Amino acid sequence: MSEVARPLIAGNWKMNGQDGEGLALAEALAQRAAANSKLACDLLVCPPATLIGQVAQILSGTPVAIGGQDCHPEPGGAHTGDVSAAMMRDAGAGFVIVGHSERRTNHAEGDSLVRAKAVAAHGAGLKAIICIGETEVERDGGKTLDVLTRQLQGSVPQAASAADSVIAYEPVWAIGTGRTPSIDEITEAHAHIRKTLGDGIAGGADILILYGGSVNPANARDILKVNQVGGALVGGASLKADDFWTICESCR
Ligand code: PGA
Repeated sequence: MSEVARPLIAGNWKMNGQDGEGLALAEALAQRAAANSKLACDLLVCPPATLIGQVAQILSGTPVAIGGQDCHPEPGGAHTGDVSAAMMRDAGAGFVIVGHSERRTNHAEGDSLVRAKAVAAHGAGLKAIICIGETEVERDGGKTLDVLTRQLQGSVPQAASAADSVIAYEPVWAIGTGRTPSIDEITEAHAHIRKTLGDGIAGGADILILYGGSVNPANARDILKVNQVGGALVGGASLKADDFWTICESCR
């Protein structure tokens, strides 16, 4: 990561925020952003697709960017129930998450589809947050670094660069469980991702690498200090304005 890159703290709201809760959360973040102009990180929230437009309006004029949680690989057409990257952009998004493990597992998304979605995001002018991470069985079997290599090689477009892509390392077993890898394990994974990106992708050396999986106000500071950790992708703790804000304030 180059010296000048600011960390990115991204909130993944998942399928939450109904009954006005998402809008209230956006209002609370807008208030905090207005009162704190000196944060040392960039901020992003990824609401469900139905809320992107309204959340973008609430947060317009604040430093908090908006992202989608997934997009279809095609730019448009007969795809009932799907949302394209351009539609996300039209609604106010500047980012989109692709390849989250919940998509990989629940919707059987493989690396080549994830890469096609990242290419679609780039085509629509969105920054793609490309998620990778090993399962518990893979970690216990000593396969973590091999899995990360395979996912990076398969999911990251060859033309990706820091201008259009972010990697999120999210061990599947750490998502929503309250368990996190040790600092040494995070250090090892991020160093490996950095090296693999630098070796395999021309513009890979400067791509930001986020850590995700049970980041909370108590552990954020230590995780964000790890070499090559360029920010965090936060699920559960991003649903509470105070917790999300404390994590943002943990950036060095
Ligand atoms: P978590 O989710 O912070 O609730 O573990 C992270 C994610 O899935 O992006």
